[in-house]
Amino acid sequence: MTSAAARGVQALRWQDGRLEMIDQRVLPSEFTYLGYDSAEGVAQGIREMVVRGAPAIGCAAAYGVALEALRQREAAQPAFDSAMERAFTALAASRPTAVNLFWALARMRARWQSAASMPISAQAQALLEAAHEILAEDIRVNRALGRHGAALLADGARVLTHCNAGALATAGHGTALGVIRSAVEAGKRISVIADETRPFLQGARLTAWEMVQERIPVTLITDNMAGFMMSRGEVDAVIVGTDRVAANGDVANKIGTYMVAVLAHRHGIPFYVACPTSTIDMSVADGAAIPIEERAHEEVTGFRDFQWAASGVLVRNPAFDVTPAELVTALITERGVIHRPDRAQMDALAYSLMSTPCSSSRSLPCGPA
Ligand code: MRU
Repeated sequence: MTSAAARGVQALRWQDGRLEMIDQRVLPSEFTYLGYDSAEGVAQGIREMVVRGAPAIGCAAAYGVALEALRQREAAQPAFDSAMERAFTALAASRPTAVNLFWALARMRARWQSAASMPISAQAQALLEAAHEILAEDIRVNRALGRHGAALLADGARVLTHCNAGALATAGHGTALGVIRSAVEAGKRISVIADETRPFLQGARLTAWEMVQERIPVTLITDNMAGFMMSRGEVDAVIVGTDRVAANGDVANKIGTYMVAVLAHRHGIPFYVACPTSTIDMSVADGAAIPIEERAHEEVTGFRDFQWAASGVLVRNPAFDVTPAELVTALITERGVIHRPDRAQMDALAYSLMSTPCSSSRSLPCGPA
């Protein structure tokens, strides 16, 4: 793939009346799109990590709802309604931590309700348009937060990131990697240190791939090397994405993020979180209330078909952890940068979003359109 093609990498795309998603399980050795035409199929794609990353999961779920509506458009209203409820339920059960999934489903339900008096084919069309809007908005939001975040990075900065919060994790541009892309577009010489991100290797497989395609210098390290790099003065800033930010500013993100935040604090290195406002969940008071996904033990005992751990060993595999707000230097949102996030600042942001009509903001909560 050329670097120009990589810049336009689309984790999801609408093609010939169906959803196509890059199969992120097999990157970087294979680059292939899988096609989807039902909510159940999309739910399975989310569960099995064909698509992953909070904003991308939200976009996929929105298309899952639209696909189901299109599939059922010849049905009578009661059968259509039941099929749609099943679709919402299946998609909501696909993964628990990224709030963007529930944000997108709430937005799709609102659109469905507002189209309820229309013929079924028009309801389906309205839902497809809503999914397209969510996708397009995500790219706009990422570009906006990228611009805000780029101002925080000095020319020559060496930036450590954990997991993949890039184009592959979103509709495009990325959140954490969006900040890096925007800084590079602004003419800054940025280099990236990618944690490999055990056990699913989003850093080694996905972040490194995205950066290599674009010729942004990237150095891959194993997760346990971050402290060494920081202690030697080789890291100027950390930027990560997030799956859910609580009302007090606590940040849930890929397992291992907390460890990086503690290390950054120890070494006086700024720890930034790239956070579209759709990832903020004011309904959870703090990080302890964020549901943390536990994934299959096989992800820890081996990789793909190879098992390296003894059969019978006990295993834990929490997929996310929570970084307390006090360790966060700033949240970078599309609305601007929130330095040292706390309950009062989160309340102020939520208040400003409430006074923004939903039609002009991708954020929850938002006010009537
Ligand atoms: O399990 P994943 O790969 O879906 O986890 C992804 C992350 O933790 C990302 O950092 C987060 O979703 C932000 S993506 C812009």
